[in-house]
Amino acid sequence: MVFSYENLYSSSTARAKRSEIRELLKLIARPEVISFAGGLPAPASFPLDKIAEITRQVIEESGPQALQYGPTEGDPKLREELVKWAAKDGIEVDLEQVLITNGSQQGLDLVGKIFLDVGDPLVVELPSYIGGLQAFNSYQATMYGVPQDDLGMRMDLLEEKLAELKGKGIIPKFIYVVPDFQNPSGVTMPTDRRKRLIELTMEYDTIVIEDSPYRELRFEGEQPEPIIKLDKDGRVITLSTFSKIFCPGLRLAWAFGPEELISKMVVAKQSMDLCSPPFNQAIAATFMSQGLLHKQIDVIKELYYKKRQLMLSALEEHMPEGVSWTRPEGGLFLWARLPEHMDAKELFEEAIANNVAYVVGSAFHCDEGGKNTMRLNFSYPSEEQIPEGVKRLATAIKKTM
Ligand SMILES: Cc1ncc(COP(=O)(O)O)c(C=O)c1O
Repeated sequence: MVFSYENLYSSSTARAKRSEIRELLKLIARPEVISFAGGLPAPASFPLDKIAEITRQVIEESGPQALQYGPTEGDPKLREELVKWAAKDGIEVDLEQVLITNGSQQGLDLVGKIFLDVGDPLVVELPSYIGGLQAFNSYQATMYGVPQDDLGMRMDLLEEKLAELKGKGIIPKFIYVVPDFQNPSGVTMPTDRRKRLIELTMEYDTIVIEDSPYRELRFEGEQPEPIIKLDKDGRVITLSTFSKIFCPGLRLAWAFGPEELISKMVVAKQSMDLCSPPFNQAIAATFMSQGLLHKQIDVIKELYYKKRQLMLSALEEHMPEGVSWTRPEGGLFLWARLPEHMDAKELFEEAIANNVAYVVGSAFHCDEGGKNTMRLNFSYPSEEQIPEGVKRLATAIKKTM
């Protein structure tokens, strides 16, 4: 007889479901499938030669130190570079307000760990980043969704939701937003909404988690103010990452926030991994100190701008009437909407039969809404694949319609 582990699991593990989406995505491993499903950067953008050069330099100049354990807060040199980086956007933080994490995904987990007890309330966008939902779900939080429009989370509906919750004696621990070229929708929240968001946190006694991996990847249009910059009251933690502006394989990101909260996150991180890899941090710090990050971002933007154009023109050319999509001014994703009666999950089988894949929109909804929506990634597929993939997707949609 095989031993059953059922009685041993923690309640959060027992509750965690295998993602249906991940199961669907297993189907796309065939080489003939053009995938708009992932959220991966273009590998062609990785500055391999520079990284090789800097790696050698780190080994020669500070090898023993870079290969040793480091402080949980992160390498002071990298944190100093990030303080300078923040200043270009008018964000004033000092070293004690910066924490290096193993990707922003760890930042989200740390936020969950320091704030959430079982059942605790928080507010998320509809749709919202799936990894954020997973992180908060693992703490068995109760999530309340507030719909977006083409300008991000709707502040009138947020206010309604906060008032409704307050009426029941519920104060959300935080409001989680991805304000710049959101994953999954690609939309950006303008400055006036960001200001309103801060006002509402003050009125309803809560805080904001601003998760912004894509902010730097703007191809066109005006950059709104970072939410953390609008905050005068210590009500914002901002998460940013090297994943989309340098290389995700380094697994490096950072959090800015009030010193007290960063210090709580440091303690929480100690029991997870002691520190983020000092070697990788030394590479990132050197890359930044040589002024290469700005150049790298320019390379990426040029690449993705072209890819977004290709995807937009292909959608225009091939999609049948009744299908609409966002037109992001940057980032990696756009969001397509099928006619109301259609279900993107049902369509998936037909799409896979046509050798094209996407992520179904309902995966990004804490309320299981968004059945007729899908996320399309344009950073990873090649320039040749994008028009062909959109054509295949349009064929699948027309057939299912
Ligand atoms: C909104 C958002 N937050 C966080 C992450 C996690 O990024 P990483 O852990 O690679 O820094 C991602 C990755 O796609 C994301 O889209």
